[in-house]
Amino acid sequence: MLNVGVLGYGTVGSGVVEVLHTNRESIAKKVGQEIAVKYILDLRDFPGDPFEEKVVHDFDVIVNDADIQIVVETMGGVKPAYDFVKACLQAGKSVCTSNKELVAKHGAELLAIAKEKNINFFFEASVGGGIPIIRPINECVTGDVIEEISGILNGTTNYILSKMASEGSDFDSVLKDAQDKGYAEKNPEADVEGYDACRKIAILTSLAYGKQVDFEDIYTEGITKITDVDIKYAKVLGASIKIFGSSKNVDGKVYAKVAPVMIDSKHPLYMVNDVFNGIFVKGNMVGDLMFYGSGAGKLPTASAVVGDVVAAAKNLGNNVPVIWEQEKLTLADIKESAQRFFVRLSGDKAANAAKVEAAFGKVQEVEAGVAGEYAFITDAVKEGDFETKAQELGNVVSRIRVDF
Ligand code: HSE
Repeated sequence: MLNVGVLGYGTVGSGVVEVLHTNRESIAKKVGQEIAVKYILDLRDFPGDPFEEKVVHDFDVIVNDADIQIVVETMGGVKPAYDFVKACLQAGKSVCTSNKELVAKHGAELLAIAKEKNINFFFEASVGGGIPIIRPINECVTGDVIEEISGILNGTTNYILSKMASEGSDFDSVLKDAQDKGYAEKNPEADVEGYDACRKIAILTSLAYGKQVDFEDIYTEGITKITDVDIKYAKVLGASIKIFGSSKNVDGKVYAKVAPVMIDSKHPLYMVNDVFNGIFVKGNMVGDLMFYGSGAGKLPTASAVVGDVVAAAKNLGNNVPVIWEQEKLTLADIKESAQRFFVRLSGDKAANAAKVEAAFGKVQEVEAGVAGEYAFITDAVKEGDFETKAQELGNVVSRIRVDF
């Protein structure tokens, strides 16, 4: 029998315990022996919970227990998760985590410790909830140079944008709904301001190119400025508004960003709605790949963690190599990357058309019956040039990148 310690008995941690219990027989067959949860670390008590007797409050009970070979970390946040995970790895225990903040910040270092100790640090659940994406990048598309990763990487914001578009719901009530369903972060600012998606694209980009991508270097824009009027225009265009985390390798320069984008029905991520995530990967040999599934929530995320536990159990005494060096990858300046922009200006067509043409040349006008506004889509323009011209216009109500 293999013993597991679980750090954090919140949404995901309790899901991990549930999955390990519900599927114990099929998991035992796959591993070749039973996997049992020995201890659960949490600050709280859980009276009445079927696993309440396994709850401990002292981390040392787990890290000092030689019978625990695998530790699951589902606490979230960097402190104290980083210290706990590092101590477990240094004690020779493999660690499986869903913690994207921890992985984005310290992944390279923790992988190096796991390699030195001949154990494993796995983090499939840190990106895309239940979607297998880390292992495919590490172990499957290794014959390719990855040219692009574009993903709907945050379930909460995709849920909010989908409900605003399909039901006309207001932002705050859908956010509350997402929190009630266990999708949102403890502080939902991480979701709605794009920080969560930023950490996820930083992880994927680090893995794609084998070097440390600092999330602080990634341009990040959330969805808080998207309104029902933007959605009205998108509908006229047959488009939907998503928030993408993306990185593109253009002639060896890697551009990364997180931002809302309008996509039309030809885009492979157009049908990714509600809490689902979709991740588009383009390799220079394989071409286009799509990964789709539940991007947040208790059981989908726990499923990915338990998949890692099974992998760790099958690889006791064997480090599965992951190329992610601590050396930093310097990202290219996104001001140099070009795309189309959807723009709304205050004032009618008569007040704006001539100065818009002077700034951007011929544009595609968009009419959605909104009084007192002039809306259009530019041709492809560099981000830096667009921002300069937008400032010069001086009356931009909103602007959203366009990918069609
Ligand atoms: N808050 C995250 C999301 C949870 O909504 O995607 C999964 O990482």
